[in-house]
Amino acid sequence: YPDVSSIKEENLKGNTVVVIDVLRATSVITTALYNGCLEVVPVLEVHEALSLKGENVILGGERKGLKIEGFDFSNSPLEYTKDKVEGKRLIFTTTNGTKAIVRSRYSDEIFIGCMLNAKFLADYIVKLGKDISIVCAGTNGIFSMDDFLCAGKIIYEINKLTKVNMSDFSSLAYLTYIKNKDNVFDYLKYASHYRYMLSIGLEEDIKYCFQEDILDTIPYYKDGKIKRI
Ligand code: MLT
Repeated sequence: YPDVSSIKEENLKGNTVVVIDVLRATSVITTALYNGCLEVVPVLEVHEALSLKGENVILGGERKGLKIEGFDFSNSPLEYTKDKVEGKRLIFTTTNGTKAIVRSRYSDEIFIGCMLNAKFLADYIVKLGKDISIVCAGTNGIFSMDDFLCAGKIIYEINKLTKVNMSDFSSLAYLTYIKNKDNVFDYLKYASHYRYMLSIGLEEDIKYCFQEDILDTIPYYKDGKIKRI
């Protein structure tokens, strides 16, 4: 699925899904859980998040890429350090990523993917031996090149382990990754979401999010919560 608007919720029933929002929601979730956050609760609305404030709870996310009033953290993965998140419950709302996760909820199993955990996630899901659907969050209801590249990376890692029978869309993502993997930033400069992130000063976040295979965390969404496997 190239973006959230292409998801037909009923079509996901019985599927094993990987949701990607590489810039930056799924990179944040993976980082927070890696650093000891107990669970991440994705919610759609800011008021919903604010109503869940409480002891041991932190609020994170963005609107238009920026921190939300009354929240503890923005959507910068660099803020979710061990000393800030360990043992905490994160209530999280973002423009596209949390929407993609919540809209995938009728799938059998939902994993959260990004560049940071791609190889580890591929290792894990190949062992499940099931068909995999990848949901790219995209940006504001439209296709986003950054998520597509990350989908290609995950398919590339899966294909290294087992011969994958790919849809045409998956093949295109796979080929896109292979063609650009040694010059990711040359590719990304054509991506509008990347350029927007740069324009609001998020270069360090982008560099962080495009590191490959540095976190062995596999986030898993079930019953409204994302936990580390
Ligand atoms: C989103 O969910 O829309 C993003 O992660 C956007 C952002 O990081 O600012």
